[in-house]
Parts: sequence; structure tokens; C-alpha cells
Amino acid sequence: NTELPDVLRGSYKGSFAYKTISERMPVILTKVIDLFHREKINIGNQYGDAAKEKLKQINGSLSELKSTMQRNKPLQPLAGAAADVPLWNRLLEEQWVDGEPPVWFDAPWLFVECYMYRRVREILENSGELRDYDYFGQQKRDTLEASIAAIELLGEHLLETVADPAALSGQQVKRAFSDFIGMSLWANKNDLSISAGAHVSQEASPLVQLVELNHRVLVNDSEQVFAQLRRLRDKRDVRIDIVMDNAGFELFSDLCLADLLTSLGIAQRMSLHIKAHPWYVSDTTPADVRHTLQHMQSADGKPALRRLAERWQGYLDAGTWVFEMDTFWTSPLPFSRMASEAPELYAHLQAANLIIFKGDLNYRKLLGDRNWPHSTGFCASLEGFHPAPLVALRTMKADLVSGLAPEREALTAGDPNWMVSGEWALIQLCECSDT
Ligand code: F6P
Ligand code: MG
Repeated sequence: NTELPDVLRGSYKGSFAYKTISERMPVILTKVIDLFHREKINIGNQYGDAAKEKLKQINGSLSELKSTMQRNKPLQPLAGAAADVPLWNRLLEEQWVDGEPPVWFDAPWLFVECYMYRRVREILENSGELRDYDYFGQQKRDTLEASIAAIELLGEHLLETVADPAALSGQQVKRAFSDFIGMSLWANKNDLSISAGAHVSQEASPLVQLVELNHRVLVNDSEQVFAQLRRLRDKRDVRIDIVMDNAGFELFSDLCLADLLTSLGIAQRMSLHIKAHPWYVSDTTPADVRHTLQHMQSADGKPALRRLAERWQGYLDAGTWVFEMDTFWTSPLPFSRMASEAPELYAHLQAANLIIFKGDLNYRKLLGDRNWPHSTGFCASLEGFHPAPLVALRTMKADLVSGLAPEREALTAGDPNWMVSGEWALIQLCECSDT
């Protein structure tokens, strides 16, 4: 369709795509290479000598990947037996133009960025011994620990809020939603790929900053989201899905929101969609969930966290909460192609009463990573993706947006980096289907 705006590409000089491919992505790869140098002995101790011997080869492959990126060479097909390899190679073929293979800076930014993470995975996957090694694991664990004080405060606030759900007035329920949606939203500021893995943590509880931060929510559909939740309260067997993003403080905040929805009896089931392997540095994998729950349980002197960990484990054991994975989430596909490329996942999402999409990457995939005129309707920019009513919670870290009225955009005057700084945010609802 020629009328659609183009997708973002590194070939647009001055764009965040260009900056990402030329500056941010090489740094992320370098950090993985450095990690393998540094961890050689530990890896040898843990995974054996054969694994240690492979590190040289792994780092050779990683360096080559970095060099092809920096020299703008063609993207190579994937190899190996993983289930998603044929899909990747088919999508790679789609990118050929005039008989020429795609190169890093000309191909769609969304595609090449996902491709880099997938290639790193491939290098480890095909190494045998280290196939399950999480090269971003330490960074994620460090930020969890650095955020523990804020996590504790938020956990205590949650326990107080839901201590006696029946006693809460309508106003208090609304306030609780506003707080925990706000926390889940702003926790997205802390992803590790934007900082290229530089140390980030949530040092103070942003609960106290929420009022101030509210002014920075450029599109705020909270009222409509509350109305949706109120309607769901009268229904039975409600399932709410969260398509999750980063581990650490964000994962904890998202689980607090899930707890609120469960404790207030709005959702009887929560499907929590996470990544099957390391992705965009800080995205949540099953190992991160396990580590977070263990950390909460072991935390000395933090009874609130132990109580919550126990309760959440109970929800998981009972099937009230389910963590789910699908290779679609680690594909480069925009969500508008889910119905045709991952029909089972699409049908599964159709059974949800509300879907919450967290973070910047999910937002880019919702919008097909297109350069939409900013005032294009949010629903229109989803290009037909509407399995169920959906809400996006995103701090802005890439130069695209839809559904933004000019008078709201005017608020950002004076901040040239407003689209990518993570200082501005969106709560956008598309109610297109009535479930
Ligand atoms: O690098 C591209 C990007 O989408 C950034 O814009 C953002 O820093 C990061 O990846 C992912 O952010 P999030 O964790 O919010 O999806
Ligand atoms: Mg992320």
C-alpha cells in the first residue's frame, strides 16, 4: 500500500534509527564480547572446559557481526535448527530490493535491530554448552538489586491498598488504578537498551513523583481505561493480558498491577507474555521471573516482599497467573501481521478482555514502526490489529507516535529530544472490539 508512511530506517540521517545502528547497537555487542572475556574462568567453572574453549569462537562470531553492521554489509540468513529460523529467513528474503540483499542501514530499523538480537542468540544457541547462558543476565540482576528499596516501598503500598478490597470506595479504587498504572508506565523508563546497559536503577519511589510525572503523559486515556475496568468488574471469567517488557523494577511494577487487578476481583486470570530468550538487553525471560521471585523471598528484613512472592507463587501454582512465551514476540514482525503469521497467538489474544502492551518496542510493533503523521488516530495506526481492547503504556524512546493532538505535542516545545528521552509518556487505548 503506497499510501502508508514508510517504516523507520537507519538511512534517514539524523534519525534515532541511524543513531541506534551506528552508536547504540555496537555498544551493546561490545558489552557482550567484554562479558565473555571477563567471565571466562567463571564460565569454565560452571559450564566446563569445553564451554570455555568455545568462548573464543563465540567472541569471533560476535565481533564479525559487529563489523558487518558497522561496515553496512548484507544481512546473512540464519542457521541452525531453532523453530523460528525458517520464518526469519523468509522475512529476510522479503527485504531484498532489486535483486540486492538488505544491508543494515537501509533495511527497516525494526527488522535490523531485532535481527541483531536474534543473531547473538543464534551464536550462543549453536555453541551447544552455552545455549542457555543469558549474556544480559548479570545486568538485569544488578538493576533489580539496585532498585530494591523502591521495590519494597511499592510492595508495601500495594499490600496496604488491597488489605481490605471490599472496604475501598469507588474513588479509592480509581486512585489505586491510577497509581499502579502510573507506576507500571514510568517503570518503563528504566530499560537497559536505551542506556546501552549503563547502570540504571529506581532509587527513589516514583510513587511520590507520580503527580509531577502525570504532566508528562502526552496522551492520557486513563479515564477510558478505568471505564473499561469498571465494566469488566461486572463480568465473570475475565482474562487480562500483559505483554510484558523489562525485568527489574518494571517487572515488579507490572506484577503489582496484575496483583491489583486480581485482588480487586476484576481479573480471574492474567496471561503474562514474556520473551523466550534474551532480548533488547533487559526484556523479561522465564529465568528473570524465577530470579525475581527468589530474590523477593530471600530478601532479609523485607516481609512485604516475602508475602508478595508467596502470594504470586500461589497465583502461578493455581493457574490464576500464567507466564506465556511465543516466538512471535522475538520476531521482527509488526503486530498487524500477527493474525496471518501467528494465527494461534492472535486467536488466543482474542479471548482476552483487555490487553496491556508495555514499553517502547511493543509500541513500535503496534505502529508497524511507521513514520505516521503524529495526529493519525491511534487505532488507525494499528493497521487492523485489534484482537481485543488494548492499551499501550509507553515512555517514549523512539521517534514515532500516533494519536497525538498538536496542542498536546506543543507541551514538548523546548525539549528537542522529547521523542526519545524517555521523559514523556503515553497511555493510549484502542477499544475497537467489544469483549
Ligand atoms: O533501541 C530501540 C528501542 O525501541 C528504544 O527506542 C528503546 O530504548 C528500546 O529499544 C526498548 O525499549 P523498551 O524496553 O521500552 O521496549
Ligand atoms: Mg525492553
